[in-house]
Amino acid sequence: MIVLKTGRELGIMQQACRISARALKLIGSAIEPGVTTAELDALAEKYILSEGAKPNFKNYEGYPATACISINDEVIHGIPSTSRKIREGDIVSVDLGAVFEGYHGDNAATFAVGSVTPQAKRLIETTEQALYKGIEKAVVGGRIGDIGNAVQRYVEERGYSVVRQFVGHGVGTSLHEAPEVPNFGTAGHGVRLVSGMTIAIEPMVNMGGEGVKILPDGWTVLTTDGSLSAHFEHTVAITPDGPKIMTVAD
Ligand code: MF3
Ligand code: CO
Repeated sequence: MIVLKTGRELGIMQQACRISARALKLIGSAIEPGVTTAELDALAEKYILSEGAKPNFKNYEGYPATACISINDEVIHGIPSTSRKIREGDIVSVDLGAVFEGYHGDNAATFAVGSVTPQAKRLIETTEQALYKGIEKAVVGGRIGDIGNAVQRYVEERGYSVVRQFVGHGVGTSLHEAPEVPNFGTAGHGVRLVSGMTIAIEPMVNMGGEGVKILPDGWTVLTTDGSLSAHFEHTVAITPDGPKIMTVAD
């Protein structure tokens, strides 16, 4: 069932999303060679708690941390660790969210550490742009397939692949709600978009093939072919005035 949000609910959700965006930005500004992913995670957790919110990934299906931090060929769900140090030239995907007064925010971004290869830079830029191509289609009267189709076309035109095994999702009083929001699809197909829907659009883009595998830790998803992967995500509300990006830091 797709739950539509009232204006009052969107107001609370906006606060959850702002906290989520600020926590993501905080990690982004702390990423540097030598810092561990556990240190980055602790920073975000402390900030979220200081805002009277809670990290919504922690304990979600047993997930042990505030953020997912996935480096290079890791696609998503990398578990922060005291033994994992960031290195010059890495690309670091950070995904996290906060729940505030019962409403969830969810967002992600990939950061370049120092100077990365031009290829890695182009992958990151393409993935972020693909997210905005998808967001443009999050309009009243559109369909879920319009979003996935726009993301997929943009990514594939640039020679990359979208991950199919994991998808975006509705978000609201739960972190994951209906509908699913795939990063691929056919325009004009799928659930009709109406005012009051809130969705997380989150392209995961591989430089090589779309294939992914999961590490024995049960969480970390990485590319099968060892190619780099990037991930961007916003929580977006569908409104009569067009798509409203909720996960903004300011
Ligand atoms: N951030 C993921 C998403 O965007 C959810 C992470 S699963 C968790 O849907 F267990 F880490 F929370
Ligand atoms: Co999400």
